[in-house]
Amino acid sequence: MADTPFTIPPDRIPRHVAMIMDGNGRWALSRGLPRLAGHKAGTENLRRVIRSSVEFGVKYLTIYAFSTENWGRPPEEVKGLMFILEDVIDRELAELSKEGVQLRHIGRLERLSPNLQEKVLDAIDATKNNDRLVLNVAFNYGGRDEIINAIQRIMKDGVPPEGVTDELVSRYLYTAGTPDPDLIIRTSGELRVSNFLIWQGAYSEWFVTPKYWPDFDREEYLRALETFASRDRRYGKVSSSEYEASNA
Ligand code: IPE
Ligand code: IPE
Ligand code: MG
Repeated sequence: MADTPFTIPPDRIPRHVAMIMDGNGRWALSRGLPRLAGHKAGTENLRRVIRSSVEFGVKYLTIYAFSTENWGRPPEEVKGLMFILEDVIDRELAELSKEGVQLRHIGRLERLSPNLQEKVLDAIDATKNNDRLVLNVAFNYGGRDEIINAIQRIMKDGVPPEGVTDELVSRYLYTAGTPDPDLIIRTSGELRVSNFLIWQGAYSEWFVTPKYWPDFDREEYLRALETFASRDRRYGKVSSSEYEASNA
């Protein structure tokens, strides 16, 4: 079946989309498969989502791949998720780079094996000049950890209290230099933040789909973008059309 053409005007496409890739375990369970099979299927899907992001003209894509709380899962699953990251870098980097994807990491690398840390750093370096899509991989990422890390560095740098502004804090986060996410998508129906981009998401629009991550396809992504395009982002003010009407 041919892909549905998309008709969203470029100025209504979110510049930065962030995704909580949730539901791999339940996807596997519903098929009588082990959870890791769900993570593998999720990784396959990621490739498609990256491609769609490039097609739709999204400039920044942030994906939540492993949270600071995910260390609490059974050791086999944690090991499997580490292996998947390594394997994705080995197998997909060249192709991603060819498509113009610049890889970045948000979170703490320290707890990963030295070999994996090196792989991640090499991948970041190898893609640093690509500019079609910035792909932020949130791996060993937690929003609170990020804020604690920022506060520690702000204090170490001797910033005076009055120097601590919205803009300064943003510069000390792992996402420094990346615009705040316009749209956050969560798959598998959970209505919670799970420690993801808690500072940066202050005014993000949300789209939650019941689909499990491995089933989150181009069609559903388009539905999220269409919904986003129809939203009125007010940032605590009144909408411009209402303002004009009341002043007419
Ligand atoms: C998301 O899927 C992937 C990670 C958190 C690593 P889950 O593994 O959380 O899947 P469910 O929520 O158990 O279905
Ligand atoms: C959030 O999903 C983390 C990732 C997608 C990497 P979880 O499955 O870990 O979140 P909870 O436990 O449902 O809040
Ligand atoms: Mg989950």
